[in-house]
Amino acid sequence: MRLVVVGAGGMLGQDVVRAANAVAYSRAQLDVTDRMAVREAIGPEDVVINCAAWTDVDGAEGHEEEALRINCDGARNVAEASGTVLYVSSDYVFDGSKREPYLESDPVNPLSAYGRTKLAGERATADASPRHYIARSSWLFGPGGKNFVETMLGLGPEVRVVDDQVGCPTFTGHLAEALVRLAGTGDFGVHHVAASGSCSWFEFAREIFARAGSETRVEPCTTEEFPRPAPRPAYSVLGSERGDRLPTWQEGLDAYLGVRV
Ligand SMILES: NC(=O)c1ccc[n+]([C@@H]2O[C@H](COP(=O)([O-])OP(=O)(O)OC[C@H]3O[C@@H](n4cnc5c(N)ncnc54)[C@H](OP(=O)(O)O)[C@@H]3O)[C@@H](O)[C@H]2O)c1
Repeated sequence: MRLVVVGAGGMLGQDVVRAANAVAYSRAQLDVTDRMAVREAIGPEDVVINCAAWTDVDGAEGHEEEALRINCDGARNVAEASGTVLYVSSDYVFDGSKREPYLESDPVNPLSAYGRTKLAGERATADASPRHYIARSSWLFGPGGKNFVETMLGLGPEVRVVDDQVGCPTFTGHLAEALVRLAGTGDFGVHHVAASGSCSWFEFAREIFARAGSETRVEPCTTEEFPRPAPRPAYSVLGSERGDRLPTWQEGLDAYLGVRV
């Protein structure tokens, strides 16, 4: 049995490769939309962690078909070829109308094109392979990619950050270790795997500046004052009825600030 990571060059993919003794395929080495290439690279003995995705949430609004090809058709190709597959999904499959943590059994209703393509990817994965895990996570930050923490630390002396979207900022180092563990359990189906606790983007930014010792001042604002092409859920905190737990987002932030270069 081999553990294989596709989308291994991305922010999460790099940490999953670090967390496991895995065979790594970056996009340049394996394009998940190329069905034949996927069948040649991956076999029925393989456990595959699929980190390949179109992740530009705003860009997906005008390019839903392209995003769907990667997030759904690509996911199907990977699931069909694998013995066991773990598809990484998103809190953006929910509409944010709840005010307590979303559980695995809660109804989905994505607001954005990106969310729709991720939900389609979940369903394509589940239809293609009975041995599937769907691991939904949220608000990722890690050393392998452009992320909110770096964006904030590059700004100053004053920033305004939205205070009316609440989620679970999740450190990719913590998530990667949990995904590798999950992939070996045989506990198939949907899992919510995100940091414990929750905060708004404003509260997250305030904590980033405090913990990094930055002088930057941060003020709250509303989503309406800072419009973006893609609608986002106002509340997308993930809880789990299956017992999946990660360290708190503050612990994740400390771990990230300790490893960032
Ligand atoms: N970032 C978040 O806040 C967040 C939150 C919840 C869930 N997720 C999910 O977590 C997973 C990992 O996201 P991430 O944050 O690590 O994003 P990322 O850094 O954008 O990584 C995605 C990777 O997929 C690759 N890729 C794109 N198209 C591909 C294709 N056709 N074939 C193979 N690889 C392809 C990208 O390569 P290129 O860079 O060369 O295009 C990139 O290396 C995704 O499933 C995402 O939906 C992310």
